[in-house]
Amino acid sequence: MSAPGQPSIPQHVAIIMDGNGRWARQRGLPRLEGHRRGVESVRTALNAARELGIRYITLYAFSVENWKRPQEEVSGLMGLLELYLKRELSTFVRDEVRFHAIGRTADLPAGVCRLLRETEEATRHFTHWHFTLALNYGARTEVVDAARAYALAVRAGRANPAETGWDEFSRYLYTADLPDPDLLIRTSGELRISNFLLLQLAYAEMVFSPTLWPDFTKADLQAAVDEYGRRERRYGLTSEQVRPGPP
Ligand code: IPE
Ligand code: IPE
Ligand code: MG
Repeated sequence: MSAPGQPSIPQHVAIIMDGNGRWARQRGLPRLEGHRRGVESVRTALNAARELGIRYITLYAFSVENWKRPQEEVSGLMGLLELYLKRELSTFVRDEVRFHAIGRTADLPAGVCRLLRETEEATRHFTHWHFTLALNYGARTEVVDAARAYALAVRAGRANPAETGWDEFSRYLYTADLPDPDLLIRTSGELRISNFLLLQLAYAEMVFSPTLWPDFTKADLQAAVDEYGRRERRYGLTSEQVRPGPP
């Protein structure tokens, strides 16, 4: 029942992948086992997104706050990430998926950082499918980084504050190449944003799923997309304006 002219399939879906630790704890397993299974769900979600025709998928994988977790968990996560990137590059190339990383990626371990650059470089020429991983990402950090880059541009005479609106300023965000998410999904039943894409989610529809991330399937993605299709996006207008009836 989306409004006329509003596609019922979101162009860009962002996901806060949450619940790996609880999934493991419920089974008496170490937290890292939950993360390992979480990587399988990443593969499932990417394939499902392509099958549903979702062109942009963005996954929150590691926040700036997550460094405060136990050292063993942090290094385990970095190891999994490295392994994942090494294994997946050929799949991205085969499926013609452009890979992006957003966040303060330069502060990640050198091996991970190098693989991110290589994966971005090897897939740079693909245009249809886009997969973005948010790594060492925080929305507040992103605003600080954007403000810093913008200030430098002003100082260099490349930007003019008197002529800067949102369209101009948003080019300094990590997501300059990406459209805003249409749909945000958070798994594991938590009802919060946890410093994810605060500005880009300004008009996103939100779906909170009780499923723990390692249990996430195509059916969960389909259910969220169906829910999205039932929403009416008004962007500040009235319902009558968005769905004009007969005169
Ligand atoms: C999400 O699962 C993955 C990361 C944040 C890296 P969690 O590890 O947060 O799982 P819970 O919330 O402890 O269950
Ligand atoms: C958000 O999950 C970060 C990622 C999914 C990478 P957290 O599990 O870190 O968030 P909080 O601490 O529950 O808000
Ligand atoms: Mg969590």
